Amino acid sequence: MLEKILFLLCFSSALAQSCEPDTPDGYKVRLSIKTALGDEAYTWNDNELFLFRATLAFAMRNEMSGQAFEVANIVVCDETPRVTFWFVVTSPQNTSVLVDKGTVEEAVRKSRSRINSAFLLTDQTLEFIGIAPTLAAPISYATQPWLIVFGVVMGVVAAGIVALMVSTVIQKRRKKNEKAIIGHIEEIEKRMENGATNLSFSDDERLTVM
Ligand SMILES: *[C@@H]1O[C@H](CO)[C@@H](O)[C@H](O)[C@H]1NC(C)=O
Repeated sequence: MLEKILFLLCFSSALAQSCEPDTPDGYKVRLSIKTALGDEAYTWNDNELFLFRATLAFAMRNEMSGQAFEVANIVVCDETPRVTFWFVVTSPQNTSVLVDKGTVEEAVRKSRSRINSAFLLTDQTLEFIGIAPTLAAPISYATQPWLIVFGVVMGVVAAGIVALMVSTVIQKRRKKNEKAIIGHIEEIEKRMENGATNLSFSDDERLTVM
């Protein structure tokens, strides 16, 4: 019995040692559930923490294939109510051996979107302090939404300018054509008048010659 208690004490102290604030092998996590979800925010509790540990075990399994990480391998400590905590990952083969920070970081990066979606949060509201927001952003738009709006507005403006230019050109041409036609008509009228007088004149001349 005493041995058992001693063992348990040793075990828990070993775990407490492995996970503590500012531990070199651990990461601090900060969740801003209220910021992200407002009135829809859920309360952080033991079940949520269990889900976090499970998703992280899942991420570790994906990263280190063949190693069956369990929830127990994700050790959490130093929880604060406005939710922050530290965690370390122990090896499934030997729980007194910690998985190195780089491997954990890689696992978090690769499964970032799955972790985020489990908690309905984003890289900004579910922060792994020290792990930069994902490079392979999961819900990244191929083109930014503001760019689409900008493009549509610019397109409409450009179309308006083109329409305006085309209509002025058409109007100018129409006026030119009208002027030209009027000019032609006037010229023909003039010629007809001149022609008539010329004709009469030449007739007169002919008459006089004859
Ligand atoms: C677990 O790791 C510790 C530290 O490296 C080592 O002392 C211990 O023998 C290991 N236990 C097993 C079962 O491999």
